[in-house]
Amino acid sequence: TGDTTFDIGFANTAVCKSAITYIDGDAGVLQYRGYPIEQLAEKSTFLETSYLVLYGELPTKEQLEDFTEKVANHMVIDERIREMFRIFPRRSHPMPVLSAGVTALGLFSQDTIGFDDDRIDAATHRLMAKVPTIAAYSYKNSIGMPTLYPDYSLSYVENFLRMSFGTVSQPYELDDEVVKAMEVLLILHADHEQNCSTSTVRLVGSAQTNLYQSVSSGVNALYGPLHGGANQAVLEMLDDIADRGISVKDYVNKVKDKSSNERLMGFGHRVYKNYDPRAAIIKKHADAILRNRAGGNDRLLDIALELEEAALSDPYFVERKLYPNVDFYTGLIYRAMGFPTDMFTVLFAIGRLPGWIAQWREMIKDPANKIGRPRQIYIGHTERDYVAMDAR
Ligand code: CMC
Repeated sequence: TGDTTFDIGFANTAVCKSAITYIDGDAGVLQYRGYPIEQLAEKSTFLETSYLVLYGELPTKEQLEDFTEKVANHMVIDERIREMFRIFPRRSHPMPVLSAGVTALGLFSQDTIGFDDDRIDAATHRLMAKVPTIAAYSYKNSIGMPTLYPDYSLSYVENFLRMSFGTVSQPYELDDEVVKAMEVLLILHADHEQNCSTSTVRLVGSAQTNLYQSVSSGVNALYGPLHGGANQAVLEMLDDIADRGISVKDYVNKVKDKSSNERLMGFGHRVYKNYDPRAAIIKKHADAILRNRAGGNDRLLDIALELEEAALSDPYFVERKLYPNVDFYTGLIYRAMGFPTDMFTVLFAIGRLPGWIAQWREMIKDPANKIGRPRQIYIGHTERDYVAMDAR
């Protein structure tokens, strides 16, 4: 109606100007603040990349030390939030638990009031610090195990792994290969411009909703299987193919048949019409880690490689430019690290956190910001008169 343009799924509508992440989907290029993802994955750490995404420049040594310390100082969560986990049923999916935990954080923070720089920075440090703690607790809760307090002597990633896999009675032995792989995976997820969860954070925040509540909305958006939930769905798909002994060819035929209503999970992307550069990096790591761990033999990795090969040479996928996306290989690595499938999307959330925060900060400080309010094309009834109950 009028000047309204119909753009379902916002496929062609830019809703903001952003200086954070650049993607060229046809060329398979991804850069944070101008730095290629390949270089960051190889040379940076997750906290350093988070600083870059949040503040626009790579930190100096002093800036990184300061940021690391500020984040470390806030890793403990209020005992009441820790106790809150007890009310959730055992085996609760950790994503809604994470979202509830982030919402609760807002209740325990003064930095939800106002948008001055100090409060925003304090909320940034608290979220960066506490989300991994809540994530680890959501996992411990799902398996009915006691939680561990953070260990300040460890790095961000090491501490998270220890809180996830350590027990009260046994020291957790850190494995350098796992720590490095986790750093890389988190870096690869740190931002991805206006994806569904980030757009959600911006839309909620555009009503001047505080950072905590905006980020917990992002967690909920990420949960869906077409978005972050795809990493769990990929592993379930690979397991299903292996368990039922379905041939890769039959599976590919099934997802091509629209009546099956199934998709090849971990394939396709709204923006990448070429190989997702993140998938290329993860594939190399998956191969190294899985081959090392499984004595050179990992059945699900073999199925994934076969699926990729079959899809990339099939006209259905070629014509539609469907390539493996970031979620295609991540689950295999997470599983090799010992995470259960329902934790995979939580790991994505920890990685995406600096991006959500950076995008919210950019939006809230943008003088051109307006409340998000899409239009619609009405297709319902024209006006009609109310019908009394006995006449319906
Ligand atoms: N398997 C089979 N067919 C597919 C797939 C797939 N994975 N993805 C897209 N198609 C087909 C789709 O049926 C459509 O065919 P047609 O033109 O004949 O109707 C065509 O390709 C275009 O698909 P679309 O749904 O219009 O594309 P979109 O940009 O709206 O969706 C997507 C993008 C990522 C939601 C979709 O590719 C998908 O559902 N993939 C599987 C789920 C997945 O891996 N999601 C993770 C995305 S990357 C990380 C993240 O965002 O979290």
